[in-house]
Amino acid sequence: MRPHVLLSVAASLDGYIDDASEHRLLLSNSADFDRVDRVRAECDAILIGARTLRVDNPRLLVNSAERRAARVAAGKPEYPVKVTVTASGELDPALRFWHTGGDKLVYTTDAGADRLGDRLAGTAEVVSLGADLALSALLDDLGARGIHRLMVEGGTGMHTGFLAADLVDELHLAIAPILVGDPAAPRFVGPALFPGGAQRRLRLAGVEQLGDVAVLKYLVDPLDRSTR
Ligand SMILES: NC(=O)c1ccc[n+]([C@@H]2O[C@H](COP(=O)([O-])OP(=O)(O)OC[C@H]3O[C@@H](n4cnc5c(N)ncnc54)[C@H](OP(=O)(O)O)[C@@H]3O)[C@@H](O)[C@H]2O)c1
Repeated sequence: MRPHVLLSVAASLDGYIDDASEHRLLLSNSADFDRVDRVRAECDAILIGARTLRVDNPRLLVNSAERRAARVAAGKPEYPVKVTVTASGELDPALRFWHTGGDKLVYTTDAGADRLGDRLAGTAEVVSLGADLALSALLDDLGARGIHRLMVEGGTGMHTGFLAADLVDELHLAIAPILVGDPAAPRFVGPALFPGGAQRRLRLAGVEQLGDVAVLKYLVDPLDRSTR
């Protein structure tokens, strides 16, 4: 069975998820980072696109020792599995992602696996999904590995891909009170044919204030219900 997919993102008031500089823009505040840590701890796996990996060099961990201990007490691995997706195979083995936390999975194509070669041997499991990489096939594979709950943490390409393929069950959108205003900066999603288009309404399931950040939680109903 495919995992439940929770897409989590922090955006500026004008819909950007970073600025155009080479340094990562911090959109969340400490209370919101702690919320994200809690949501991570509740998931079996966390996924980011290869570009976020290259640009932000994140560790993608559960930082709270109490939450990690609670996972272990519940019979789960200390850390969620870390997952990334690449077509190019351009993944630097020195990135922090590979050297922290628990198991790592890299989904790619046959050509991407060839380009990657044995660069990540002993560090991550590389899974080729064939000539093309369909995100639905990636979810099938994660489901077969016992992943029930997947958190997708960006960036634009991953958000757009999962939403356009109608593979998202839940969306957490943290809105930071800033304006980026730079068309060169990445947005929450890129242009795409989203199923149901602008007629489809997501179901608002919660609104939370964490200091100056507003967190909106949406559930994505099946298309026939959401467009009625
Ligand atoms: N504010 C937030 O919550 C947040 C969270 C995460 C990231 N971000 C920001 O998002 C920006 C990066 O976004 P992005 O759109 O450039 O990158 P991304 O979504 O992180 O990664 C895109 C990459 O994923 C791989 N990919 C995507 N779809 C694929 C498919 N179907 N098959 C094979 N590979 C696929 C490709 O990797 P290859 O190039 O290796 O082929 C592609 O270049 C950064 O500025 C980062 O800071 C913000």
